Amino acid sequence: MASGEQSVGQVGLFDGELTEEQSVAEKIEELKLEHNAIILAHNYQPPIIQEIADYVGDSLGLARKAAQTDARVVVFCGVHFMTETVYILSPDKIVLLPDLSAGCPLADMADAESVLRLKEEHPDAVVVSYVNTTASVKAVSDYCCTSANAIKVVSAVDSRKVIFVPDRNLAAYVSSVVDKEIIPFPGFCPVHEEIRASQVQFVLEEHPHAEVIAHPECTPEVISMANHVRSTSGMVEAAISSSADEFVVATEEGMLYPLNKNVPGKRFFAPAGEHICADMKKITLTKVLNALRSLEPRIVVPEEIRVKALASVERMLALG
Ligand code: 13P
Ligand code: SF4
Repeated sequence: MASGEQSVGQVGLFDGELTEEQSVAEKIEELKLEHNAIILAHNYQPPIIQEIADYVGDSLGLARKAAQTDARVVVFCGVHFMTETVYILSPDKIVLLPDLSAGCPLADMADAESVLRLKEEHPDAVVVSYVNTTASVKAVSDYCCTSANAIKVVSAVDSRKVIFVPDRNLAAYVSSVVDKEIIPFPGFCPVHEEIRASQVQFVLEEHPHAEVIAHPECTPEVISMANHVRSTSGMVEAAISSSADEFVVATEEGMLYPLNKNVPGKRFFAPAGEHICADMKKITLTKVLNALRSLEPRIVVPEEIRVKALASVERMLALG
């Protein structure tokens, strides 16, 4: 998207000439009923996927939805670690990721061995792992957290010393709010790391009354410019409750779609440059249809790892 462009809020995607997409969407609907399936989609998914989903949300909302649903099949439109989390919570369900190669470079930066080494170096610390981690990392962690509840979880853990894995930017943000010693793992999201303060400033100069909403995976420099630091779904809440009419949104630019859709009448701008998570865009309507036809590709986590990972996810969910 060109610098500072507002996304077109494509509400009503099936109005007009999109008949091929419409017929694929209808087949998806039929197969959903046949298999008792639910489609969950992350806020960064392409608009057409958000339109056919039963629920669109952030990592915390999606994990909660997965824990509650009584569907037999979950088609997860997002990336690998999020789909693993669904399976960790619901091993009795068929959990599908329509493109197995949709990963998360941030999640891939930490492995269980590195976390265990950190634990050995800091035996008195509690390990809090961001949900953007593999199941194996969650299995060696005490608590899981998401961008929506990281502050709440770190504040609640019964230790003044916390090893925070794997996002150094989220760790720095938590550390700026919570009075505890945070030992950060040196990971980062390549998409958020590339959002520069100057790119936010460029749009602010065109829209001087705009407020800045930033995802906590952004660098401290960008966070310091933000009026609101929120998870992706938290951004929608912040935009609704703010008295401002214009916002610069420092995150993956797919987020402009749910913002425009859910907050009509306000204007949202991406920072200058292109900020796209290629993995999130791998899910297509045809891949969703194929997944529902074949009930593949499935995500499964070995039971020994799943049970340990579940403990850290459940400790997070128990905090509310
Ligand atoms: P949210 O949980 O805020 O949706 O973030 C997930 C993510 O991967 C952000 O890059
Ligand atoms: Fe991972 Fe970053 Fe993509 Fe989120 S935006 S899924 S953290 S690579």
